[in-house]
Amino acid sequence: MALASGLLVLILSILFVEARTQPNQFGKIPLGSQLSPISETRSWLSPSGHFAFGFFSQGNGFAVGIWVVGQPNNTVVWTANRDDEPVSFGATIHLSGEGKLFLRTEQGNENLIANVSEVADSASMLDSGNFVLFNGSSAIWQSFDHPTDTILVGQNLTFNDKLVSSVSSSNHSSGRFILPLQTDGNLVAYPKKSASLSVDAYWSSDTFQGDKKGLSLYLNNQGFLLMDTVSTKPVLLARSSYSCNNKTTIFRATLDADGIFRLYSHCLENKTSWIVHIEWSALNDQCNVLGFCDFNSYCTGKGTNADCSCYPGFAFNDPSEKFSGCYKNVTESFCTGTDEGEMYDVITMENISFERYSYSVLDTKKENCGLSCLEDCLCDVALYINERCEKYTAPLRYGKKDINASSIAFFKVQTTPAAPPMGQTVITESKKSLIVFLAIAFGAVTFLCFVIAISTFCVYRDRTFLYEKLSGIISLAGDFTLRSFSYSELEKATGGFAEELGRGSIGAVYKGTIPGGDRIVAVKRLEKVLDEGEKKFRAEITVIGQTYHRNLVRLLGFCVENSRRLLVYEYLKNGTLADLLFHSDKRPIWKERVRIAMEIARGILYLHEECQACIIHCNITPRNILMDDSWIAKISDFGLSKLLYPDEIRSSMALSQSRGHLAPEWQNNASVSVKADIYSFGVVLLEIICCRSSIEADVSAPDEMNLSSWAYQCFAAGQLDKLVKDEDVELESLERMVKIGLLCVQHDPALRPLIKNVILMLEGSKDIPTPPSIAPFCISS
Ligand SMILES: *[C@@H]1O[C@H](CO)[C@@H](O)[C@H](O)[C@H]1NC(C)=O
Ligand SMILES: *[C@@H]1O[C@H](CO)[C@@H](O)[C@H](O)[C@H]1NC(C)=O
Ligand SMILES: *[C@@H]1O[C@H](CO)[C@@H](O)[C@H](O)[C@H]1NC(C)=O
Ligand SMILES: *[C@@H]1O[C@H](CO)[C@@H](O)[C@H](O)[C@H]1NC(C)=O
Ligand SMILES: *[C@@H]1O[C@H](CO)[C@@H](O)[C@H](O)[C@H]1NC(C)=O
Ligand SMILES: *[C@@H]1O[C@H](CO)[C@@H](O)[C@H](O)[C@H]1NC(C)=O
Ligand SMILES: *[C@@H]1O[C@H](CO)[C@@H](O)[C@H](O)[C@H]1NC(C)=O
Ligand SMILES: *[C@@H]1O[C@H](CO)[C@@H](O)[C@H](O)[C@H]1NC(C)=O
Ligand SMILES: *[C@@H]1O[C@H](CO)[C@@H](O)[C@H](O)[C@H]1NC(C)=O
Ligand SMILES: *[C@@H]1O[C@H](CO)[C@@H](O)[C@H](O)[C@H]1NC(C)=O
Repeated sequence: MALASGLLVLILSILFVEARTQPNQFGKIPLGSQLSPISETRSWLSPSGHFAFGFFSQGNGFAVGIWVVGQPNNTVVWTANRDDEPVSFGATIHLSGEGKLFLRTEQGNENLIANVSEVADSASMLDSGNFVLFNGSSAIWQSFDHPTDTILVGQNLTFNDKLVSSVSSSNHSSGRFILPLQTDGNLVAYPKKSASLSVDAYWSSDTFQGDKKGLSLYLNNQGFLLMDTVSTKPVLLARSSYSCNNKTTIFRATLDADGIFRLYSHCLENKTSWIVHIEWSALNDQCNVLGFCDFNSYCTGKGTNADCSCYPGFAFNDPSEKFSGCYKNVTESFCTGTDEGEMYDVITMENISFERYSYSVLDTKKENCGLSCLEDCLCDVALYINERCEKYTAPLRYGKKDINASSIAFFKVQTTPAAPPMGQTVITESKKSLIVFLAIAFGAVTFLCFVIAISTFCVYRDRTFLYEKLSGIISLAGDFTLRSFSYSELEKATGGFAEELGRGSIGAVYKGTIPGGDRIVAVKRLEKVLDEGEKKFRAEITVIGQTYHRNLVRLLGFCVENSRRLLVYEYLKNGTLADLLFHSDKRPIWKERVRIAMEIARGILYLHEECQACIIHCNITPRNILMDDSWIAKISDFGLSKLLYPDEIRSSMALSQSRGHLAPEWQNNASVSVKADIYSFGVVLLEIICCRSSIEADVSAPDEMNLSSWAYQCFAAGQLDKLVKDEDVELESLERMVKIGLLCVQHDPALRPLIKNVILMLEGSKDIPTPPSIAPFCISS
């Protein structure tokens, strides 16, 4: 039945495509006019007959839009309410007697096509392809002001406008790519499922610096794609060169479904036939479009013949849809360490590239790279590139096969176990307990070795230089080394603790130079460590020393002598995030702030979920986040909470230090979990958004004092622009960031998202729920 009616619609639509459109002699469409997909008037034509407004077929029904009329196919250039379901043939379009333009569905729902408060007295389908509603001689609404995926000659794209690609050439719903004209004047293409940061950009007009800063994008009638700039001279982005032999030509620039921005010419050969030419393509290879293949899949092929495949060990989310991305196809996932060699194997692929956020980088040989991934339960892929081995966990995005990438990827895959004849579960269970036993035994042995190493080292600490050369570097598991210093060494390195870099809740930090390596370091003298003894201190330091992530400050060494406790960190010269945010002259632009937020979240993810022992930071504030030489954010002071704030005494001291960032559960004596860090991250995120401190007394209204509750008020009142005073921020991006921040600062820890979900939301690949309200200053007892 449905099939039959579908066929009927199809036949009707083919029959009526030409016959049922009417040229309009006067160019004006009077009030009271009406269109129906199956009546005489299915569309309103422009005077030339080249453009039509009305119903076109989409899927099993119809959509409303504007298209170029003619063979071989009509070309849709605009779609009304493009994400609505297609309508059936009982639907009608009305330019009503009251001057409103709307679509009435078969069920009787009325959807506005032109959403304006003024009323029209006439409408016109113009020869330019612009559909306009008039009140007298002034245009009160025009389709040119609401571009979808195409601009035509005479149409302007200005700040905060964007083109959004279609799903495919036959489905004009919003697709996977966007091309906004940013407020910085640059026209940039991004995958829609991203945070639109510079790492997500795959093409840009490069019109943002000096007098090349763009103002509006348009096409002139010679088919030149131009950007008006702050200087008088427009920038030419592309030109049409195909000679149409002086025949009627229509130019259009479209962000195609494959994410590539192209300039087309349509030349009128005879009355109804057009010859379509691609005059210019922003990119030639679909594989260079970031996000062309979704998570965990990679792009192969040249030009417009690109294809997506899953990485080894992954399977398509939707096997009928190659753009659907892939999931890790494993039946069991262990994190046990010893027996894995039997269950996992590596598959090698050359010339693979993807977005590189490795959690660990090793200086090792090619042969050991795959092995190192196999032995590391977090590792899904190791990439051997530039003579280093980088390890990654899924999901991976922006993957492609690139013959210019001299890389070797090792994918960890599960080997299919030889199926035992019966009692499989029993065998698996016993295997599991064996693994657990081996892991514990192995762990114990390692720990014992470590203790022996440490104590041996302590005994001989004061021996000769040679000895120090050999054993002064404690080598723990695998690739990690942490150096032990004597107090006098550090005293010398810092010139007697002369240059103080800063003073925090933990103690003062001094600049120093390690002799030998000439490496500049930051030496932190812990002043408030409880006397827990050396053993505990060393145990904690070991955990910290094993962390290695680009968004964490690296611990290089330590000193423990009598009651003295010092830590030696890498030195980051660009200061703290607080310096950056709270000084108006240093304040980074919006996109940089979004990037920094993402980096902090990645660091926290590593602490919470990726390093060997879960670390709760407990004290995330902009003062603990440092900026490195290339302005990458790195979290410091992690792993110290157990030394500094043991459960018994945590509140009083901690509270006095980082007012505003501490989760409410600290004050309620409830148990503190990773969700406490999420709260602190949320506060930091709001600070990053607003470039102000979470608690500020010097504000214009008392409501603004506490940042979280003020942010919620602004959010609830729909006045987000108040949060970013006199700064040009894309509202959509701002709203997303504020919502994430408000979710994180929920008083109930259970309502706060996990850090991995925070990252997905920041990246734009997960929808953000509307945050519940937050009670202002609610300190429950
Ligand atoms: C068009 O694509 C959208 C998004 O993928 C989908 O939801 C919709 O069903 C498609 N419409 C048709 C007519 O195929
Ligand atoms: C025209 O439409 C038909 C059927 O929808 C399609 O197979 C064909 O590829 C289209 N031709 C062009 C040039 O888009
Ligand atoms: C019409 O526009 C107003 C204001 O821009 C908006 O609030 C409303 O949701 C729109 N209505 C429809 C049906 O799109
Ligand atoms: C034109 O717009 C004005 C102001 O919105 C309105 O008062 C007037 O009625 C409109 N004219 C017609 C013919 O609808
Ligand atoms: C586009 O902008 C130009 C000036 O930059 C202006 O003359 C023209 O009217 C605008 N066109 C539309 C459709 O807004
Ligand atoms: C197009 O017209 C111009 C002048 O109108 C003429 O100089 C030119 O030769 C014509 N080109 C062709 C290919 O006919
Ligand atoms: C011109 O139109 C006729 C049909 O009217 C068609 O058969 C012919 O192929 C068209 N010529 C070109 C060059 O497209
Ligand atoms: C997933 O893995 C299992 C065994 O490892 C295999 O049998 C199955 O075919 C895989 N599924 C897909 C979709 O590749
Ligand atoms: C590889 O590099 C060469 C030279 O730099 C370049 O011409 C070519 O387009 C590149 N190939 C790909 C697939 O990027
Ligand atoms: C990558 O592809 C090139 C050929 O384009 C080849 O020479 C090279 O060996 C491949 N593999 C690696 C690891 O570079």
